[in-house]
Amino acid sequence: MTWSCFRSLPCRHTKMKAKVGVLILLLCVTSLCVFRRAEIKSYLRPQKDKPCSCDRCLSGDEPFKEHFGKFAEPFYSIHHNLSEENFNWWKRLQSKNPTFSAFKEAVSKMFKMFPKNAELEPASTNRCRTCAVVGNSANVVGSHYGPIIDFQDYVIRMNRGLTHGYEEDVGTRTTHHVLYPESAVNLDDTTHLVYFPYKIRDFVWITKALNTSTPHKIRRFKANKDLMLVLNPVFMKYVHEVFLKRKGHYPSTGFLALVLAMHICDEVHVFGYGADNDGNWSHYWEGLRNTKIRTGGHPGSVEYAMIDELDQNQIIKFYKGW
Ligand code: C5P
Repeated sequence: MTWSCFRSLPCRHTKMKAKVGVLILLLCVTSLCVFRRAEIKSYLRPQKDKPCSCDRCLSGDEPFKEHFGKFAEPFYSIHHNLSEENFNWWKRLQSKNPTFSAFKEAVSKMFKMFPKNAELEPASTNRCRTCAVVGNSANVVGSHYGPIIDFQDYVIRMNRGLTHGYEEDVGTRTTHHVLYPESAVNLDDTTHLVYFPYKIRDFVWITKALNTSTPHKIRRFKANKDLMLVLNPVFMKYVHEVFLKRKGHYPSTGFLALVLAMHICDEVHVFGYGADNDGNWSHYWEGLRNTKIRTGGHPGSVEYAMIDELDQNQIIKFYKGW
């Protein structure tokens, strides 16, 4: 500040204005922080009559349910009738424009072959059902998360996610494996196949692929069809609308699997999520195949921010990796 400036009135006014400006800015920042804390606090609450024996039970978390709406039914069964409105949302995921009647026909053929979904452990006051959801991010390498993953009741993996050679970082057990036709790998006889249908063809394919009397022309894979669970198309829409606020074309397999875990477990531990430094969804078992892959058609950064938010609110436990 020069002497002339100190003496002149307009200049002192400018200084005053600047101070007031800084004060207002500080006030705004403080209120933002307080507001954010209040939002976080609104998730946290003591649970009186817990429906499970964990410290906190997702299934009994009323503020959480208020925040994210009534939990949607995650699995599709013969007893569900998909409305035409929900079908119209789901059909956007495929390039063809299928009719509702073609959908119903494909689904009814599938349910003839797999009349019911496998049973899952129901919530109970004397049990704490824990899930480990293992995404395919390269950030698990060197993490030594294996034992924590194996320690959980359900270990959910997805697509080409493997354990052999990576046991220290991703564990050895797989109780549930999420797949769609293009990502199908052979499963052992005790692993639940959690099937994510993104297209009508997917209902047709699974009906044939697990049917041993189908001619060999069809691409087959091994899975125990009695342990199969089929994701409800309505659940995909629910996750997209409620958790991702309709950002991106549709949720990734990994994000759907994570919200699914929040529906079937009381406590959820999350591993293997997050892009590399260039923003690509690279895998822990291979070098990046396509350097322009980013997060595909999925809203990767929105998903990551939501996982972070759920973790900050102690809804899930997010192990960020290395
Ligand atoms: O690549 P892939 O689709 O098999 O990965 C499974 C899921 O893991 C993705 O849908 C995504 O949610 C998550 N993932 C991630 N960061 C990576 C790789 C995968 O968050 N680097």
